[in-house]
Amino acid sequence: MLKSIAVMTSGGDSPGMNAAARAVVRTALYEGVTVWGINNGYHGLLEEDMFEMQSKDVGDIIQRGGTFLGTARCKRWTTPEGRMQGYKNLVDRGIQGLVVIGGDGSLRGAQLLSQETGIPIVGLPGTIDNDVWGSDYTIGCNTAANTIIDAINKLRDTASAHRRVVVLEVMGRNSGWLAMVSGISGGAEYILVPEEEFDLDAICAEMKESYEKGKRYILVVVAEGAGSGKEIGDQIAQKTGIDTRVSVLGHIQRGGSPSVIDRVKASQLGEQAALAIISGLSDIVFGFHRNNVVAINLHDAVTNKKVLNPEYIHLAKVLA
Ligand code: F6P
Repeated sequence: MLKSIAVMTSGGDSPGMNAAARAVVRTALYEGVTVWGINNGYHGLLEEDMFEMQSKDVGDIIQRGGTFLGTARCKRWTTPEGRMQGYKNLVDRGIQGLVVIGGDGSLRGAQLLSQETGIPIVGLPGTIDNDVWGSDYTIGCNTAANTIIDAINKLRDTASAHRRVVVLEVMGRNSGWLAMVSGISGGAEYILVPEEEFDLDAICAEMKESYEKGKRYILVVVAEGAGSGKEIGDQIAQKTGIDTRVSVLGHIQRGGSPSVIDRVKASQLGEQAALAIISGLSDIVFGFHRNNVVAINLHDAVTNKKVLNPEYIHLAKVLA
């Protein structure tokens, strides 16, 4: 049994990270274990920016987006010297294990720390991108998809009013998951994702044909990993001659109060992470598979690439 653990959030923030950290802290305290909060991810660990947490420190945060612990993308953590310094800063405080809530880059950093120092590490997938291998779900992806849907609903109104093509670029880094689920649920005619090649000439020819048949407007959702929305929009305008507008949703889709799904799932994952690390388990990421919490090998999670469900790709084509 570990007596003292720490928790941090790292990389891009995501709605539900607060619920996850809260569950880690309250589960640890419930088990009689000391729990430290590390501010601003690996950067804060290197700066020794951490504090021993009480239950009240995680009060009034479950409903908030972002992360109350703060987060960062930390260059120094990519070096063995940086990680060794971080390890020393943990050991100096008697911290015996670390829970890292973050995306694939943050989990990779955690895996290296465990490999190089042997300190127990448990990861939670915290990213709107839903791109962590082994888990159907990452903390924040549901809220982000709902935010995109809200934008799509609004874009449809104005696209219809003007008979325009509207191109919406959404986040996801190299993953098309966010574009795919929001495109399907927003009724997009075209969903362009990095996982599937597309022929813009053929798409433009189809667009012209459907306009000639009376189609009122067309919605295209582009995953940032599939190309620039602006460039794709410019090409569509030039090839079809149809009035076209582009929106890049940007960081709006990373913020906002977490959905019920993100709050509950993040809480479940946080509890499991705390229980696992306290009992001395290491090199695990907790995620969901078919709605059940599962433990994924940390090395596998960071070395394999998650595949976009081919059924989604097919469904998007059928429903367009
Ligand atoms: O990984 C989450 C994410 O929001 C990606 O979808 C996006 O590509 C990236 O982070 C943006 O990062 P930053 O906030 O550092 O610009």
